Amino acid sequence: MNLTETTDAARPTAGLAPSHDLAASHDLAADLLTPEARRDPYPFYARMRRESPVHRSAQGIWYLTRYADVEAALGDLRLSNDRDRMTRAYVAQGGNLKAFSRIADRLGHVMTNTDPPDHARLRKLANRAFTARRVEALRDGIQRIVDQLIDRAVEAGPAMDLIEAVASPLPTSVVCELFGIPPEDHPRVKSWFRCFGRLTEDIGKFEEAIDQFDEYLAHLVRRRRADPGDDLISALVATQAHDDRLTDSELLSTCFVLITAGDETTTHLIGNGTLALLRHPDQLARLREDPALIRGAVEELARYDTVTQAIVRVVAEDLEIGGRMLREGELVYLFLAATNRDPDRFEDPDRLDLTRPGNRHLSFGNGPHFCLGGPLAKLQAEVAIGTLVRRLPELRLADGAALDWRPNPLQRRLTALPLTY
Ligand code: HEM
Repeated sequence: MNLTETTDAARPTAGLAPSHDLAASHDLAADLLTPEARRDPYPFYARMRRESPVHRSAQGIWYLTRYADVEAALGDLRLSNDRDRMTRAYVAQGGNLKAFSRIADRLGHVMTNTDPPDHARLRKLANRAFTARRVEALRDGIQRIVDQLIDRAVEAGPAMDLIEAVASPLPTSVVCELFGIPPEDHPRVKSWFRCFGRLTEDIGKFEEAIDQFDEYLAHLVRRRRADPGDDLISALVATQAHDDRLTDSELLSTCFVLITAGDETTTHLIGNGTLALLRHPDQLARLREDPALIRGAVEELARYDTVTQAIVRVVAEDLEIGGRMLREGELVYLFLAATNRDPDRFEDPDRLDLTRPGNRHLSFGNGPHFCLGGPLAKLQAEVAIGTLVRRLPELRLADGAALDWRPNPLQRRLTALPLTY
């Protein structure tokens, strides 16, 4: 089984951690690689949380599964995102250095792979441009794209693969509009994103896509600098003009991360969320009766079947968690998906409850690296899932649909979601 199959180009460490090492071990960590865990990892997390909540795999990678530990870890500066530290830890584990260093080089210094205090400088630029107002202003545009995608699917017949028809094209179109990428270029951009998501299947294609996208972005930034528009690249360029500590290459890397980080993640929030709803007809009926529940519903769907199952840190300074010593240079997986089902934090955590009170899940992280695009991702999921439920009253899983997930335990991604309506 090739577990390094997929990665987020924007968050290389999350996908590139040497997961083949897990396969070699015969501990609880190895259980996560079984076909049963691929179908449903949550019982495995429950066992790990109970029996070994601060677990050291045979290869010396730490697995944290309790809400309290992960929440604290996300704010602990002794656990680092630093690119160079991460590279060293990764090499020590025998990871695919070529692929890793290719992404690390490309990204340069960017908020995702930098620690505070430098992190704040890099994030500020995007924060200023990526305002709540700018996100909310996208609602009508998102609705228009969702309606078009659903129209097209319905015209094509009584069944669709939701991933292919709606969940995948939507975030690409939205981010392209946001960044002022002209419609004729969207298919090219989508094909690059696909290559980013399948890094180790074809590293040649991956590298080619990185180079081409990089060149394309540089060209776009030059154009916007000369002729600004109402798009996010123009906003970032304008912000940079007031902040001379930010280099051109950092600006480019920021664009790269912002454009790529929310593509597959948003796709699978919509995919996993729709599947969870269809498997819980009582909750689906509640949402149909009261469409105003959609905002809380998306929070609960994000908690219930977490897209980014785990993120990675490297120990920068020895620290103790749950009575165990984590040593400098060791890798740590923070299993957000496991924390979201922690009974010490959530009442009846395995139940889907669209009106769950106090739903402070960790699906978008926490602390300094808290997801910058969360509001945008959730807005897309609200519109997409809300519209599917409203427009397709007979929506259901296709008869005999054999569901499968991509073989990367750090990300929960359906290969397809066949529906009829
Ligand atoms: C359902 C969709 C999404 C999920 C599940 C998700 C999840 C996450 C998580 C867990 C983190 C924390 C990573 C860490 O601490 O190491 C993160 C960070 C980040 N996300 Fe998202 N994300 C989503 C959508 C988006 C979108 C749409 C964008 C941008 C348009 C975005 C941009 C970012 C950026 C820039 C960071 C890094 C922030 C930093 O390092 O300071 N994400 N995301």
